[in-house]
Amino acid sequence: MSAPSPRPTFGHRHLLGIGQLRPHEIAILLDAAEADVEVSRRIDKKKTVLKGRTQINLFFEASTRTQASFELAGKRLGADVMNMSVARSSVSKGETLIDTAMTLNAMRPDILVVRHHAAGAVALLARKVGCAVVNAGDGAHEHPTQALLDALTIRRRKGRIAGLRVAICGDVLHSRVARSNILLLTALGAEVRVVAPSTLLPSGIELMGVDVFRSMQDGLEGADVVMMLRLQRERMEGTFVPSIREYFHHFGLDAAKLSRAKPDALVMHPGPMNRGVEIASEIADGPQSVIEEQVEMGVAVRMAVIETLLAGAEVQP
Ligand code: CP
Repeated sequence: MSAPSPRPTFGHRHLLGIGQLRPHEIAILLDAAEADVEVSRRIDKKKTVLKGRTQINLFFEASTRTQASFELAGKRLGADVMNMSVARSSVSKGETLIDTAMTLNAMRPDILVVRHHAAGAVALLARKVGCAVVNAGDGAHEHPTQALLDALTIRRRKGRIAGLRVAICGDVLHSRVARSNILLLTALGAEVRVVAPSTLLPSGIELMGVDVFRSMQDGLEGADVVMMLRLQRERMEGTFVPSIREYFHHFGLDAAKLSRAKPDALVMHPGPMNRGVEIASEIADGPQSVIEEQVEMGVAVRMAVIETLLAGAEVQP
């Protein structure tokens, strides 16, 4: 009789991007998050698995969903959680990212959750500190926990990821959410489409294994999932769309455009939403929208990520 095959393991100290993960590692995180959805729906939501551990959230960019859910996730696991207010820290006096990180590292946290406006900044920081690091969004590079929570939402609703047609629509050029989702969904066997005007498509996006559409009517045809992206005006230098009105007319999700997708297609948006820019209010609040469910899944996914990383972590010397 042959020996049983070893249990698949998660082989990473940090979570810096979906690009570093193999499909079975994505599945480990999604399966762990399923259990944490149930924990978060209990009256007593507290686990004690990270009792005595310290989590620091270090956000150099604005956030509502990601920061709040990482804080709740850490607390529900029993960790002590500190939110660094960057605006009131010595960063405002000129301290560098690395000096700030090294200062916090000296206080012996077990995990740092970092959002930064520069692509690659979180990976750089991870090389300098002695604890686990989670990328909570770095510039236009990656937002791995967003893609994981999106995948969990889809998997729970549709029962699978493989074979689904997912249309990712809007400002793909500036979107770390799009990049992480493309990496994750293609790794798990989905058919991924990106739909955007030429000005909002990165050159060479086809090399990521997606089909490219410049019309919502064509791109949404037969879609199982329609994932809208925010028009990220804060990252734009110059003019990418003629006017908001025209953008909404051609690329905003309304009932007519959504009718091209399957009747039971899910409507998703990572937030924050610009109603009347990339999505009509009646669709955002309509029966096909799972936008609030995405937020709920965010806490479970972040619990799973933190617990998985710290389960294998050694205490720094
Ligand atoms: N989706 C997302 O990252 O939202 P926040 O910017 O509010 O964290």
